[in-house]
Amino acid sequence: MTKPFQIRDIEINPPLILSPMAGVTDISFRRLLKRRGGIGLTVSEFISVEGLTRNNPKSKRQMRFFEEERPYAVQIFGGQPARMAMAAQMAEEIGADILDINCGCPAPKVVKHGGGSGLLKDYPRLETILKEVRKAIKIPMTVKIRAGFYDHTINAVETALLAEACGAEHIALHGRTKEQGYKGLANWDLVRQIKEVVKVPVSGSGDVTTIEGAFARWRETNCDGILIGRGAMANPWIFRQIEDTIAGREVFQPTLEDKQAVLLEYFEMLREDMPELPAIGRMKQLAGQFTRGLQGGALFRTSIYHSHSVAEILDRIAEYFSAISEGRPYYGEAGAPVEEEAPVLDSCEAATATS
Ligand SMILES: Cc1cc2nc3c(=O)[nH]c(=O)nc-3n(C[C@H](O)[C@H](O)[C@H](O)COP(=O)(O)O)c2cc1C
Repeated sequence: MTKPFQIRDIEINPPLILSPMAGVTDISFRRLLKRRGGIGLTVSEFISVEGLTRNNPKSKRQMRFFEEERPYAVQIFGGQPARMAMAAQMAEEIGADILDINCGCPAPKVVKHGGGSGLLKDYPRLETILKEVRKAIKIPMTVKIRAGFYDHTINAVETALLAEACGAEHIALHGRTKEQGYKGLANWDLVRQIKEVVKVPVSGSGDVTTIEGAFARWRETNCDGILIGRGAMANPWIFRQIEDTIAGREVFQPTLEDKQAVLLEYFEMLREDMPELPAIGRMKQLAGQFTRGLQGGALFRTSIYHSHSVAEILDRIAEYFSAISEGRPYYGEAGAPVEEEAPVLDSCEAATATS
């Protein structure tokens, strides 16, 4: 039942996609996760077409990727058709395999300009954008949509049909409305409904955090692919574990050494990619995610949050893992307030709040 699928001639194998997450799935995070195995497609963070087409260095940096990530999609957002088309061409020029259009971000500053989930309530604009982008590039164009804008205007099936008619070659649905934000659960029945009416491949997104969850969603919806976002922050091996299950292999279980190694590898990649201060900032946001559920994980996150240098972060990681691997309790950094922790990034809104 679960098999690779194709976006035009690009094979997505295994049929698992690292869901785009602004402020998270940058070049280092994607590389880190791709190396763990099981990812059939990586997607950039959403990138502003206003930034890209005005030569904003941050936007251009966000398009970069490593060859080892392929197949790789660049996701763009915006509300102006001409700028969307120009940005799509830029993504094609840098060698992206696929161009994805964000029709789901709920952040007010994105919606205000007609982009993101704003497109779900402005079909004429959506249609023009899709047609202009389709004309401008040769690589496949795909869309990532939400269930609808308001809870009482659910129109995912109509949006999917419109997107297909305008040339979209893959439809990914995050089954929450813009009004819902990240509350409640994603409606996967809409994925099933879309799959029934379009010919292009369809993937679903939302709340998949376990192997069983992924298989249940495939069974219930008959969808082609599954996107995993937050679940991959908590468990970078989730794709590999699902792939192991598809292949009938024993499921890989990371050891404590693997978990420590992933943290160190991530920190090294960040430091290669950016100056020390932002690398430390990123580490504060994400390091703790990888240790969710581990004994003393909350104290570890606090101690990382209170670190101010590379050396301090490396010391805290070493102390924490040596304590838990020897079965000693971890008390964290002496005197550090326990209640203060880096906020968990939980939406594209959070990521756009400061940019
Ligand atoms: C921090 C964060 C940032 C996100 N940024 C994007 C984005 O840039 N583009 C996008 O299409 N979806 C974005 N999303 C939505 C996710 O791709 C995904 O559809 C959603 O989180 C539900 O899936 P999950 O439960 O597997 O995380 C973001 C989600 C989070 C948590």
